[in-house]
Amino acid sequence: MTGRFIVFEGGEGVGKSTQSRLLAEALRGRGLEVVTTREPGGTPGAEAIRALLLGNEGPGWGARAEALLFAAARADHVEALIRPALARGAWVVCDRYLDSSRAYQGGGSGLEDADILTLHRIGSAGLLPDCTVLLTLDPAEAADRVRKRDAGAHDRIGGRAAEYHARVAAAFKRYAEAEPERFAVIAAQGAAEAVHARVLAAVDHLCA
Ligand code: TYD
Repeated sequence: MTGRFIVFEGGEGVGKSTQSRLLAEALRGRGLEVVTTREPGGTPGAEAIRALLLGNEGPGWGARAEALLFAAARADHVEALIRPALARGAWVVCDRYLDSSRAYQGGGSGLEDADILTLHRIGSAGLLPDCTVLLTLDPAEAADRVRKRDAGAHDRIGGRAAEYHARVAAAFKRYAEAEPERFAVIAAQGAAEAVHARVLAAVDHLCA
């Protein structure tokens, strides 16, 4: 039996990594093998590309080069880690994936959604998650969480203007509305344990 592939998506500071960890623990408690991973990154090659993308040194990347680098990192991640894990029956819980490229490089930076999907087809044979959990949070609360977490430091993309991040959030919402069977939209306000309970309820059908 192949495993299941669950992705957490959303803007900065909505609690994706905490919720990934809590979900992985809960699934392990049910006796499943669970691989937790993140994007960009998850394999040595993809982590090297992550450093190129998010480091603050140098002039940075144009939107097209950035989209290609994210797709290249994802191709390595899918081939070397995600597909083998699913093939042996493990569950994969990933912090960000394709819909981040659509929302940031598409919604935020203005590239065509169809082009980003084409890069994904070329790089990763179009592999999609079984469920994409979109965590949503009021932007002011998310910004507050990021301030507390990062103490004013941010990476090259997280540091972009509030309007950029508003376009990203709007894009995520559009994708979730367009594909309700693939997305679970979960309100991320409140205590982590309360959000976790909502997430578990949303992915429960995959355990059947
Ligand atoms: P990360 O530190 O993982 O951010 P966060 O804690 O907010 O999840 O950094 C990932 C950054 O890369 C984040 O700003 C979103 C951005 N990103 C893209 O722009 N496109 C993508 O395809 C992915 C996976 C991430």
